[in-house]
Amino acid sequence: MRLSLRQWVASVLVLTQLVHGALCWGKDDHYTVCKIAEGYFEEETIAAVKKLLPESSQGGGDLASFCSWPDEIKHLSQWKWTSAMHYVNTPEYRCNYQYCRDCHDSHMQKDWCVTGAIFNYTRQLMSASVNSESLVHYNLTEALMFLSHYMGDVHQPLHTGFREDQGGNTIIVHWYNSKTNLHNVWDDLIIESALKQYYNSSLPVMIQALQAKLMNGWSNDVPSWKSCQFNQTACPNQYASESIDLACKYAYRNATPGTTIGDEYFLSRLPIVEKRLAQGGIRLAAIINRIFSAKTKLAGA
Ligand code: ADE
Ligand code: ZN
Ligand code: ZN
Repeated sequence: MRLSLRQWVASVLVLTQLVHGALCWGKDDHYTVCKIAEGYFEEETIAAVKKLLPESSQGGGDLASFCSWPDEIKHLSQWKWTSAMHYVNTPEYRCNYQYCRDCHDSHMQKDWCVTGAIFNYTRQLMSASVNSESLVHYNLTEALMFLSHYMGDVHQPLHTGFREDQGGNTIIVHWYNSKTNLHNVWDDLIIESALKQYYNSSLPVMIQALQAKLMNGWSNDVPSWKSCQFNQTACPNQYASESIDLACKYAYRNATPGTTIGDEYFLSRLPIVEKRLAQGGIRLAAIINRIFSAKTKLAGA
C-alpha cells in the first residue's frame, strides 16, 4: 500500500492523537485558544486552513483538534529539535524579556525559542507562494500547527519564565492537597479546577463563556490585542514581554518552593489565565487572517 505524503502525515497525526488521548489529559488550553481563534477566521482563512489541515479533519476544518500536536511529538527522537521552541526564559530572575538576550536553546543556538519559532512559521506561511507545490503542502501543514500551538504557549505566563527554575518546573508546591510544580499549576491545574467549579466540567461551556466575554467585557480591548507595532504580521516579542510581566506579578508571587496554593491564589489568578487564553485566540486569528488575506496566495492551495 502506497500512501501519499498528505495521507502519511494524516496517519501519523491521528496515531499520535490516539496514543496521547489514552495516556494523558490537559491540552484544554491549546484547544481553547484555537477554538476561539476559529470564531474570528475570515472567509479566505477558513478555506486556506481547511486545505492545509490533514485529510482526517477535512469537512470540519477543525484547527483546534490539531493544536496540541507539537506537545505530543516533542519527545520523539526525530522531533527533539522542536522541544526548545515551546518557551523562552529570562536569565538572573529578570522580569523583562529581550529577544537577542533570551531567544536561544540550552546550547545558546540563536532564535531557538518560542518567539523565534512564531517569527519563523509566520514567515514560512507568508512566503508560501514562492515554494514548489508538494513541499508547500507538507511544510505549511506543519507550519500552521506549530504556529497555532506556539501562540498558545507564548501566552502562558510561565512559558516566559526564569531560566533558573525552568519556568516554574523546579518549584515544588502543593496545589490544595496534591504535590506538583508551579509550571503545572499554570499549564493545567487552574483551568482544570475552573472547569469543575464553574463550567460543569465542560470545555465547550468554558469556551462559550470566554466567547461571551469577548463580545461584552473585553470587546473594547480586542482591537488593541490584535494590533502589532510597525504593521508586523505577528509580534511575539510583545506577547513574551507581557508573559514575563504576568509571571513576576502573579505566577511567582506567593508561590515559593514548599508553599501550599489554595483558594486565594486560584481565585486571583484565574482571571489572568482566562484573559491570556482569549488574547491568544484573538491574536492567532489576526495573524492567520493577515497571512491568508487576499494579497497572499497559497501556491497549489
Ligand atoms: N523548560 C525549561 N523552561 C521551560 C519553560 N519556561 N516552559 C516550559 N518548559 C520549560
Ligand atoms: Zn507547547
Ligand atoms: Zn508548559
